[in-house]
Amino acid sequence: MRASASPRIIDPRQFRGGLPARAPNRTGKRGRVLAQWNARKRIVASEDLPSEHRLKRSLGWPHLVALGVGAIVGTGILTLIGVGADKAGPAVILSFAIAGVICACAALAYAEMATMIPASGSAYTYTYVVIGELLAWIVGWSLILEYSLVVSAVAVGWSGYAAPLLQAWAGVPMSLMQGPELGGIVNLPAIFIIAVVAGLLIAGTRESATLNAILVVVKIVALIVFVAVALPYFDAANFEPFAPFGFDKQMSADGVERGVMAAAAIIFFAFYGFDAIATAAEEAKNPGRDLSIGIVGSMVACVAIYMAVAAAAIGALAYTRFANSPEPLALILRELGQPAAATYLAASAVIALPTVILAFFYGQSRIFFVMARDGLLPRGLARVSARGNPVRITLFTAILVAILAGFIPLADLAALANAGTLTAFAAVAVCMLIMRRRAPDAERTFRTPMPWVVGLIAILGCAYLFYSLPAKTQHYFLIAQVVGLAIYFLYGSRRSVAAGEG
Ligand code: ALA
Repeated sequence: MRASASPRIIDPRQFRGGLPARAPNRTGKRGRVLAQWNARKRIVASEDLPSEHRLKRSLGWPHLVALGVGAIVGTGILTLIGVGADKAGPAVILSFAIAGVICACAALAYAEMATMIPASGSAYTYTYVVIGELLAWIVGWSLILEYSLVVSAVAVGWSGYAAPLLQAWAGVPMSLMQGPELGGIVNLPAIFIIAVVAGLLIAGTRESATLNAILVVVKIVALIVFVAVALPYFDAANFEPFAPFGFDKQMSADGVERGVMAAAAIIFFAFYGFDAIATAAEEAKNPGRDLSIGIVGSMVACVAIYMAVAAAAIGALAYTRFANSPEPLALILRELGQPAAATYLAASAVIALPTVILAFFYGQSRIFFVMARDGLLPRGLARVSARGNPVRITLFTAILVAILAGFIPLADLAALANAGTLTAFAAVAVCMLIMRRRAPDAERTFRTPMPWVVGLIAILGCAYLFYSLPAKTQHYFLIAQVVGLAIYFLYGSRRSVAAGEG
């Protein structure tokens, strides 16, 4: 049943553009190095993979849309809206629109590439197939950064809503619910929720995806309730002055970089997640149709929800009163004299935010899985259990992201996650444009409309958002890439399956 529902991968020669996959005649050290960097991955239909390296095809498009919305709506709208308001003032609503347009363009490119290459690994795999190994490694490493930091960031965002409830109901001291930079010792709730989600994933993909679909409904209803309660308090005066910190990133007197674009570079976090669907390609029952419905559908739904929430939040209360709060939407409702609605929203966030952690955790373990299967990371990590779940890599990831979540503040985690995501999104748009030139007539289940306009908005937009990130984040990102390249040259480049194939 599994095999008949899945299309075979299209002729790999279409991805090679007349160039050899490797340069077999190159001799000498330099020639060999260049051949390795340009080595392109051959896609094997997943049915042809050995069983211990094969994932189960258990997800239909409703699961994928739920996975998408579950991954997109999260800490970005629930918590980072406060950080964004601090950086842009009421114009944070413009930051939402800018980040949303750039993300939507990237989503279209993703949908095209995901249906052309319905294999696990998303941006990493597309870059490996279309461009070559060295860039694929950089993109894969960026994705590892993205997924692990999103898991950590959302766990910290979850803790922001859970901590006041835990303090009020169970008397847990705040010092055990915040990282050192906020005056605490360790963020235990963040570590706890990561452990719970890791357990779910180890228990099995399908069960987790179904639970995810139920929790998505809880989250959406909570946001609708927020808009319904806050909207009657709408006061246009709260939008004045609209953009107190200007448009482009600039340093404020307190050492924080602000402006509409600086906020957009953080708010961008709120919009991604649809790419987690692409990482599920090998587990989709009918990847050609289901992936495009999942990616585009979930993106459109989320943009609409966000604009409503942002307008209601800014209109209801002066932004200075909820800027930088760890639970801004609940705070707004309390300030409006609606404590019951505030508790309902906080409880819904606590119940439903784990869907975001789940989706990114899932994506993260699959990226590791595919990179290990390709020989770029230790292959022992790629082994799956008898039920088809990559247990080892899930445990490995859980330990890594729990440590980060326990000690690092949300805004820093989110900014660095964004840097990784922007790199991956730009790479996907580049791959989409290369393929349009290299194989214009190749079969495409989903075609990006106006590909050059959309592709260039995605690439240049990602570059502009990257530039608008805090300087500190850009430096950390470069350091992370240097570490990644060191691992590649010391390990992956020597063991790569694609480079060693011929
Ligand atoms: N878009 C996801 C969130 O906002 C990462 O939590």
